[in-house]
Amino acid sequence: MAIKIMVVGGGGREHALVRALLRSPQRPTVICAPGNVGIAADVEVLSEISDGDVDAIVTAAGQHAIDLVVVGPEVPLVAGLCDALAEAGIAAFGPSRAAAQLEGSKAYAKEIMAAAGVPTAAHRMVETVAQGIEAIGAKYPVVIKADGLAAGKGVVIAEDQDQARAALEAMIVDRQFGDGPVLVEEFLVGEELSLLALCDGVRAVPMAPAQDYKRIYDGDLGPNTGGMGSYSPVVGIDDARCAEIVAAVHQPVVDLLAARGTPFHGVLYAGIMLTADGPSVLEFNTRFGDPETQAILPRLRSDLVEVLLAATQTGGLAEVELEFDDRWAVTVVLASRGYPVSSSSGDVISGLAEVASDVEVTHAGTACVAGEFVTAGGRVLNVTALGVSPSAARDGAYAGAEMIKFNGRQLRRDIALRAVERA
Ligand code: AMP
Ligand code: GLY
Repeated sequence: MAIKIMVVGGGGREHALVRALLRSPQRPTVICAPGNVGIAADVEVLSEISDGDVDAIVTAAGQHAIDLVVVGPEVPLVAGLCDALAEAGIAAFGPSRAAAQLEGSKAYAKEIMAAAGVPTAAHRMVETVAQGIEAIGAKYPVVIKADGLAAGKGVVIAEDQDQARAALEAMIVDRQFGDGPVLVEEFLVGEELSLLALCDGVRAVPMAPAQDYKRIYDGDLGPNTGGMGSYSPVVGIDDARCAEIVAAVHQPVVDLLAARGTPFHGVLYAGIMLTADGPSVLEFNTRFGDPETQAILPRLRSDLVEVLLAATQTGGLAEVELEFDDRWAVTVVLASRGYPVSSSSGDVISGLAEVASDVEVTHAGTACVAGEFVTAGGRVLNVTALGVSPSAARDGAYAGAEMIKFNGRQLRRDIALRAVERA
């Protein structure tokens, strides 16, 4: 009988996971909770289940005789979904609640990095606005971070004391991002890299490197978003360099967590700044990146089912080396009017059927009304193309993106342009 897999989550990342699982030679049965209307066109979805509802997910996984649950978003991981599934005897791809604290608490991540000798920006924890201002001194710009999960909004780059004071007040006085501590962090200069590694409790195995585009406008201008595009691989970051970075960043963390009795299983995502002094970690995520996953997984040639299952077993990845297609992948995000400050719903989406069949369109914020796809969120769709060069992949992705129209559509025009210029 085919293996039965449940993907948890309902965005573009989960759609990319579903598609990659369906490409497995094992021909798995895949379902998704809650999924979205795009995912529902590929597999069965349990749309009534919230991705944060641990009990409902465990119950549904039992009822559907699921062999493996693959968890997309961070919220259920930090809430202990993988622990609850383990208790119910169901295999889960993802870290325990304890290991997910690497993403759930920036203070904890800093403590682990210090203990494991992983390079990261210098920081201080502060408890009052005055302490924060004092800790910063004259060093601007500076980065101010709230401790807990903040859906990407808990990081402020302050250019001067007024901005720093406003950020500290929002975090410490108004408690906009919860009760946790606040970090004042050294501002690092360089280019960012997303390097994800699959982990089996003892070993970290690098995936293909990627870069994402966090700002809403071309040229990295405007406010931060959930991500407006991504591409993979990255010029200058070859296999040997990936292995070096994983040895300096991911593996020491995996070793330390194993030694502390909270082994890391799942995917460890390091957001890295490539500084003049070498790589330095900006953050850890304990899940697949969005939208990096939409560019990385279409390049994966290994059997995703096999490697995710292997990661659930202690030492299961010992024999595994991930194989990636030599081609480039570029993902362009289509966002709705108002994003990231607000979002727009109900705008009719046209042209989906005209997109070339070798371009992968994954859904994020869409709904179906009277048989038509409409916008239903900030990030609406992801358009991914493979190509033998960065420019071929870019051309494919933008040709696909151009076909798809809706009122207020926003997209960046410079995704992967950097790679084209360097290749
Ligand atoms: P984080 O959620 O910690 O990755 O921060 C979000 C974004 O803020 C990062 O992707 C960077 O663009 C920026 N950022 C975070 N920390 C720093 C830092 N220490 N120096 C410069 N930029 C940073
Ligand atoms: N691409 C950034 C993230 O997934 O957090």
